[in-house]
Amino acid sequence: RYQLETLIIGQELLGLEQTASTNSLIRERAFAGVAEGLVIVANEQTAGRGRRGRNWSAPAGSSLLLSLLLRPTWLVPSESFLLTMLAAVAISEAIERETNCTVELKWPNDLLINGRKLAGILVELETAGPERLRWAVIGSGINVNWQPSDDPTINQAATSLASECGHEVDRASLLRAILYSYDRHYLNLRSGRREALRQAWLDRLTTLGKMVEVELSSHSFVGVAEAVDQHGGLQVRDSTGQLQTVYAGDVKVRPV
Ligand code: BTN
Repeated sequence: RYQLETLIIGQELLGLEQTASTNSLIRERAFAGVAEGLVIVANEQTAGRGRRGRNWSAPAGSSLLLSLLLRPTWLVPSESFLLTMLAAVAISEAIERETNCTVELKWPNDLLINGRKLAGILVELETAGPERLRWAVIGSGINVNWQPSDDPTINQAATSLASECGHEVDRASLLRAILYSYDRHYLNLRSGRREALRQAWLDRLTTLGKMVEVELSSHSFVGVAEAVDQHGGLQVRDSTGQLQTVYAGDVKVRPV
């Protein structure tokens, strides 16, 4: 058993050889009433899920596939973007502590190194009406010791820590660093330090000031990303000069 000096995150930690999806497993536990802080890590997923209904695939044993359960009942659903910020900041800081790489963020929740996607975050929520959150599952898939470019089915814009940092990374140490980082930031958030988290996230965000192509489910448009609003929406100035706020979409940063 892993000895962790955290207060909440990873007090209960389950490591699995294989599962369908760590997010799905945590959701089941969440519905069953399990306490917050539960972390599930798997070597391999057979039905890993990405954002917007996509799947998430990674070869066995060379990624960090983890999910955690939080019960931030002190947040209202409209503030839930703070949980994406929490994950992005906690994981980025842990990676930088364990490697010599610098991590950047792309709205809404991709971690990039040298402009390529290193990790993705999937937040799933259960609300108790419009008033409060019941629980949140935060899943992340981090490409650690494999080269996505080796796999022709994987997006060319994907990368891994080994490829970018030039050395293999110990997954257990990285996991430990991530859980400590999550614990610290979660406690800060719980004690009300929202602006500090938001600022740490904005400091790493490289999307603002850039020309982006926004893909929505129905259509896409091009504009300049200007700001992120209080709810995590990306404000993009389109070609007609109008400011459009995007809450659920993907952006591609266009070369200028
Ligand atoms: C994305 O970029 O679309 C988000 C990818 C999230 C993948 C992780 S891997 C661990 C956890 N379990 C899942 O099924 N998905 C998340």
